[in-house]
Amino acid sequence: MIHTLKLGKDLKDALGEYVSPDPINDVEQEVKEWARDKKIEIDDLKKQEKFRREFLSNISHEFKTPLFAIEGYVDALQDGGLEDHDLAHKFLDKVSKNVERLSFLIKDLNEISKLESGEIPINYQKFELTALIKEVKESLELKAAKNNISLIFKEKYDVPTWVYADREKIRQVLVNLINNSYKYGKPNGTTAISIFSLHDQYLVEITDDGIGINEEHLPRLFERFYRTDSSRSREIGGSGLGLAIVKHIVEAHHQTINVRSTHKLGSTFGFTIQKHKDVLNIPLINQD
Ligand SMILES: Nc1ncnc2c1ncn2[C@@H]1O[C@H](COP(=O)(O)OP(=O)(O)O)[C@@H](O)[C@H]1O
Ligand SMILES: [Mg+2]
Repeated sequence: MIHTLKLGKDLKDALGEYVSPDPINDVEQEVKEWARDKKIEIDDLKKQEKFRREFLSNISHEFKTPLFAIEGYVDALQDGGLEDHDLAHKFLDKVSKNVERLSFLIKDLNEISKLESGEIPINYQKFELTALIKEVKESLELKAAKNNISLIFKEKYDVPTWVYADREKIRQVLVNLINNSYKYGKPNGTTAISIFSLHDQYLVEITDDGIGINEEHLPRLFERFYRTDSSRSREIGGSGLGLAIVKHIVEAHHQTINVRSTHKLGSTFGFTIQKHKDVLNIPLINQD
């Protein structure tokens, strides 16, 4: 029975009428193997179950905070808060901020679940990395100004850097990392983007001189909903999913992401990206 279940139809056909010289021993081996595989599978399912439970409880917690805040301000407005114009404005402003937070949360949840289910596969293409970085830099310039942060991408990167990756997803990675550098940066601070050429990859680094991250948090930083200092991070808002999305995208490309940080001094997030093979084939020294 186990034998039949284990072998797919094709394999059975291929084996044909093979008869083992020691069927009892074979069966014992197969039962052992089967039991081991099932144990691994069950452990895996248990882990997933635990993970799902935690994820759900995290999600409901994340929704509760802004929702309760909205409830509170609406109540206050209904209970006569409208009479005082200034106060009403302040309350509405808070309501709007919390609604924004909820919608960010839904957007990020949607994004991460799509990424994880493989619904939006990695769409590899050849593109020029510095052009993308310049685009992202421009799109975030207003935000940088609002946060009083200067975003530096040195002009020395005028050499074309052809890469092979999903352009839109890498854009998301850059946006998330740069946004974090604003959120956790200090006023009048600086965020710098650098590219380093490795053997068959480029290393992109986003460095800020902001609040930094205590070493104890680093190993868990890329987990969903993980925040270093919940009160402060919460004040700034954000879904807590940004880095989980970043890690997911980078790893789906079979590349790596890492972080170095010193508390109170700043942080550097670096990820690798595959060079396009055309670039790899260009000889380093022109023989002519
Ligand atoms: N550049 C940074 N400097 C300091 N802390 C950071 C930085 N980027 C991320 N963090 C910390 O990592 C946590 C997770 O980041 P992220 O997943 O983007 O969530 P969010 O930004 O929504 O809080 C943040 O809450 C913050 O505590
Ligand atoms: Mg973020």
